[in-house]
Amino acid sequence: MSKQVTFKTEPKGKLTGSIRVTGDKSISHRSIMLGSLAQGTTNITGFLNGEDCLATIKAFRAMGVTIKGPENGNVTIQGVGLNGLKAPTDHLDMGNSGTAMRLLTGVMTGQSFDSVLVGDASLSTRPMRRITKPLSQMGANISTGDNGTPPLSIKGNTPLKGIHYDLPVASAQVKSAILLAGLYAEGETSVTEPAVTRDHTERMLCGFGYDVLTEGNKMSLQGGGELTATNIDVPADISSAAFFMVGASIAEGSDLTLEHVGINPTRTGVIDILKLMGADISLLNKKEVGGEPVADIRIRSAKLKGINIPEALVPLAIDEFPVLFVAACFAEGTTVLTGAEELRVKESDRIQVMADGLLACGADVTPTADGIIIKGGGLSSGEVDSHGDHRIAMSFAMAGLCAKGSIIINDCENVDTSFPHFIEIASKAGVGVKII
Ligand code: S3P
Repeated sequence: MSKQVTFKTEPKGKLTGSIRVTGDKSISHRSIMLGSLAQGTTNITGFLNGEDCLATIKAFRAMGVTIKGPENGNVTIQGVGLNGLKAPTDHLDMGNSGTAMRLLTGVMTGQSFDSVLVGDASLSTRPMRRITKPLSQMGANISTGDNGTPPLSIKGNTPLKGIHYDLPVASAQVKSAILLAGLYAEGETSVTEPAVTRDHTERMLCGFGYDVLTEGNKMSLQGGGELTATNIDVPADISSAAFFMVGASIAEGSDLTLEHVGINPTRTGVIDILKLMGADISLLNKKEVGGEPVADIRIRSAKLKGINIPEALVPLAIDEFPVLFVAACFAEGTTVLTGAEELRVKESDRIQVMADGLLACGADVTPTADGIIIKGGGLSSGEVDSHGDHRIAMSFAMAGLCAKGSIIINDCENVDTSFPHFIEIASKAGVGVKII
């Protein structure tokens, strides 16, 4: 049993100075996967030392890959090539991570041995048919638990053929699972997506010397190639930076700089939404590192206003809505989110869990099937349950900056999945939050 962690906030302070948040989770997972499947040695810097990415490292170690680190964000992988993985002696435990499970399933369908992928209580309730359906069309043999949930049992030695798949949901995890299986498939594998989703898999495959063609909303690759090791500099995670963007926007007198943050245009919906709400955000020192754009992000507090969030921005800010709901509570007027039913199948049902927590803190919110309506007006004190969802816990930590009293946040242990040392870094920036 892991220990129960509870946060308590103090309504004080403003966010100032300069901080670097932890490494990008999406890029960190992919760096381990592609580094392991490449020929040669891959060196990674800025790696996210969080539980989710450690689960990915553990899985590849269990399949015979030598991985050194993470040590101060440095990881070295001795790649074994696309066909060099060895059968694990046990189930592969993906912990809390949907990304690890869905992407790895794509890889495992191409192996010569059987595997079983399991997860924690939250991951064990998450929908997997979205990947097993297209992967089965490619020829994979995967069985799921009841209702299409984990565990996933994947039969090895099953030849794959390339397919074209129209993604019914905008999901980078599904797109990536198909493209990764496509590395092992005969012929061309292609996907079209209904809306733009994060493109780290495509970018990183190119970085490893594997051609991926992107034409509009269609991505395609040919099976049977090779990955060549490379070095990867993982930028700070914009999804972790988002908590501080909101915190600095709502806490009067704030002037905070977030260093070296990934600003891949498939991830910057949070900046666009906050700017539409009136936030004062500027991007400084823009540059490109290892195929990904990065910048320092400066945020000064501003008076926010409620908006109708454009649906086109939803997939570009999909992980940032919990904290955007907090911003909406401190904005003047009403914020309306629609077209975001995917939030109900994340690490928790983020529409319901956020609505429950905000209501407990005195907010005026109405959850809907595919979004939420939030009337600005501030928050009082309260006690909330994060349901083991890291992003819910950190969102309420930021809410505490401007709430009238303290917020007690229960079930915060999973903050370590994406943001180890959150309390230290948040305290350094000026957030009044501690573990009790
Ligand atoms: C991710 C894709 C998104 C996101 C998740 C990370 C990825 O999930 O919510 O945190 O790294 O590909 P979906 O593909 O389910 O939208």
